[in-house]
Amino acid sequence: MEIETETALPIRKLGRTGLEVTQLGFGTAMGNASDGGPDDDQAENILNAVLDAGINFIDTAPDYGESEERIGKYISHRRDQFYLATKCGCNIDLGGKRLEPGHLWTQDRLQRNIYQSLIRMKTDYVDIVQMHNPTVEEVEQGELVPALEQIRQAGKTRFIGVSSTTPDLLPFADMDVFDVFQVPYSAVERTHEQVIQRVSDMGAGLIIRGGIGQGHHGGQKRWDAWERAKLDELAGAMSRYEFVLRFTLSHVACHTTIVGTTEPNHLRANVSAAQAGPLPRAVNDEAKERLATTGEELEKIDSYTPSRRFSAPVKKRPRRGVPGDHGCPFIGFWWP
Ligand SMILES: NC(=O)c1ccc[n+]([C@@H]2O[C@H](COP(=O)([O-])OP(=O)(O)OC[C@H]3O[C@@H](n4cnc5c(N)ncnc54)[C@H](OP(=O)(O)O)[C@@H]3O)[C@@H](O)[C@H]2O)c1
Repeated sequence: MEIETETALPIRKLGRTGLEVTQLGFGTAMGNASDGGPDDDQAENILNAVLDAGINFIDTAPDYGESEERIGKYISHRRDQFYLATKCGCNIDLGGKRLEPGHLWTQDRLQRNIYQSLIRMKTDYVDIVQMHNPTVEEVEQGELVPALEQIRQAGKTRFIGVSSTTPDLLPFADMDVFDVFQVPYSAVERTHEQVIQRVSDMGAGLIIRGGIGQGHHGGQKRWDAWERAKLDELAGAMSRYEFVLRFTLSHVACHTTIVGTTEPNHLRANVSAAQAGPLPRAVNDEAKERLATTGEELEKIDSYTPSRRFSAPVKKRPRRGVPGDHGCPFIGFWWP
């Protein structure tokens, strides 16, 4: 099912998924009231405000406390207004409590996760399921790609992906089996600047996290580079958060960035920043020049040799267009 989005927000194609996503998405790792996060009313308000603002892409995970449950409670009746991405590999009990080790890289865990996520979110399918930060070795040893394909075949997800960072990201992309990658990137965390371009050029969709540098929760260390680069003077009338977000949106490989917030005024500010669009080219170039003097190393792509880290060839799957309607019942799986 495709989403009809009437929005003033910029829209991008999420790589080979073909999904037309708002470049400003929404991340729901906001915590529970018991650990300082929003209470139920605040969560209901912000989730609905996100959709009211025209944002059509929401990211969650079994790991994010009550996030999936709240999506089910408060916006599942609006499921036709947003694309939904969750994660798997998360080691939680049936009550949602996180267990040790934090992730389990087995086929069984992936299947349990998606089954339980769909129940919590009161939906028949997600648009994307992403493995939550495994290594290439864990994916190979656990034979997890066939498990993801089985989940897709059963109609529980339309597309498959990985949340990843260097050094695993390029080898994962080179497997040519994943539709999307979730990767951290912003002006204050530029490590993957070249890598996401390469991954996008290979046809995958890019979901950028950390796109606002974690805002006012980013911590001094993260903002040191900003201060060393003297970006306040370049930002002029923009707040540093608006500047960082628009810097992220300026990267052509940023198909969507899933900025999280529990504050309606921050959501409004982020929507306005996204509407204002990428930074002017000259400002963006100047910011990069100044940031280059701060010593942050960008992961280089020219030294990467495709397939060097694979122990065995991975069966590539044929490219597919956007499939038709979903909503298949659960078939062929075991649970909980
Ligand atoms: N490995 C993974 O796969 C992984 C890891 C982390 C996160 N994620 C995903 O990525 C999403 C984004 O999280 P992130 O950690 O990457 O951080 P982020 O989106 O860069 O920043 C989120 C933080 O920024 C603050 N913020 C938002 N708008 C602001 C504004 N206009 N002014 C000042 N502060 C603002 C929010 O605080 P307020 O609530 O106070 O506004 C929130 O704490 C998560 O929700 C989750 O979906 C995935």
